[in-house]
Amino acid sequence: MDTTRRDAFGLLIGGAALVPAWAPGRAGAQTVDPAPPPAIRAHLGVTENPYGPSRAARKAAAEALNDTPYYAWALEAPLVELIARREGVSPEMVGLCNGSLEALSLLSTAFAKAGPIVAPQPTYATPLLYAQRQGGKLDWVPVAADHQIDLPALAARAAGAGCVYVCNPNNPTGLLLDPDALRAFCVEASKSAPVIVDEAYIEISPDPAVHSMIDLVREGRDVVVARTFSKVYGLAGLRVGFIIAQPERVRQLKSLIPTHKGRPGLAAATACYGDAAYLAGTKTYLEACRAKIYAICRANGLTALPSHGTYVFVDTGKPNLAFQKTLASLGVEVRVFDSPAHPTWIRVGTASPAELDIFAEVLPRALKA
Ligand SMILES: Cc1ncc(COP(=O)(O)O)c(C=O)c1O
Repeated sequence: MDTTRRDAFGLLIGGAALVPAWAPGRAGAQTVDPAPPPAIRAHLGVTENPYGPSRAARKAAAEALNDTPYYAWALEAPLVELIARREGVSPEMVGLCNGSLEALSLLSTAFAKAGPIVAPQPTYATPLLYAQRQGGKLDWVPVAADHQIDLPALAARAAGAGCVYVCNPNNPTGLLLDPDALRAFCVEASKSAPVIVDEAYIEISPDPAVHSMIDLVREGRDVVVARTFSKVYGLAGLRVGFIIAQPERVRQLKSLIPTHKGRPGLAAATACYGDAAYLAGTKTYLEACRAKIYAICRANGLTALPSHGTYVFVDTGKPNLAFQKTLASLGVEVRVFDSPAHPTWIRVGTASPAELDIFAEVLPRALKA
């Protein structure tokens, strides 16, 4: 499970619900101030893209500020049409959302009314945990021994599921599934339940058109592909995502979303979607960051999985929650995941090269601690 709570050190930790002792209104709150958290100098817990947005996206977002007194209705259709044209689907098959997390959370919650959400573990669990908080049931399927999503095991649980969630490339492992195997899985599983394929990082995969499952939507399958401008396009702070799905799923999403979209985000997304030169630049940058993480791991004798995301999953050989705290005490934030098969693994984000230099400097000390 992708843990979401912060402890007094500002660390993301797994499992227990921690409420800071100084939380407002807490009965019997302690009278002594807690020690100040150590300053984090390297934010490697993130999956955003430090390369940042394209110049055109920045300009469009800035210009959109002139019209902020007005709602952004008029900006939605042009972005929907742009996406539909590029992906070869009809505009009715494109649903915008405020970051893909919104669509993933609302749809998985709705689907969970019909049965459990079947999902690999570990994966990007945030939307699934949202569904669980609304009463949905989760059915975790451990990844295989090679850390890859176990498609046959997922398939065996699809009958009776409310939906099946697959993240490709998976977060945190960064592994991409074989496209033919995933396609065959989606075709079969979508006969029993909607299949959500979260393609948050697909733009930096070797061949996005081959790895994406959008062709199955075109064929009429009950597959919901989720995409985002938050990662590779560098627009996490502007909250724009979309789904490509059957028109009835898009209508379902629209009926669930309670709020409007923001102008700067829609304008920026329209300005950069499919910008080949920008995508090539951001891909080169992220690959260099990943190469740097691999080199740091190799220099310290650690195993890292080959990643297609903006992060690398690393086996530290040490209990990961304690190791996370050790790194934080040295100014480096990383993320850990609830996965019984990965008690010693951490996820290291492709932060800026300067932050990765800090990781390189700190890691040997943390491993000796
Ligand atoms: C796999 C995956 N999907 C979806 C999201 C949600 O991103 P956003 O809501 O910013 O589009 C994230 C963010 O970390 C992610 O890692």
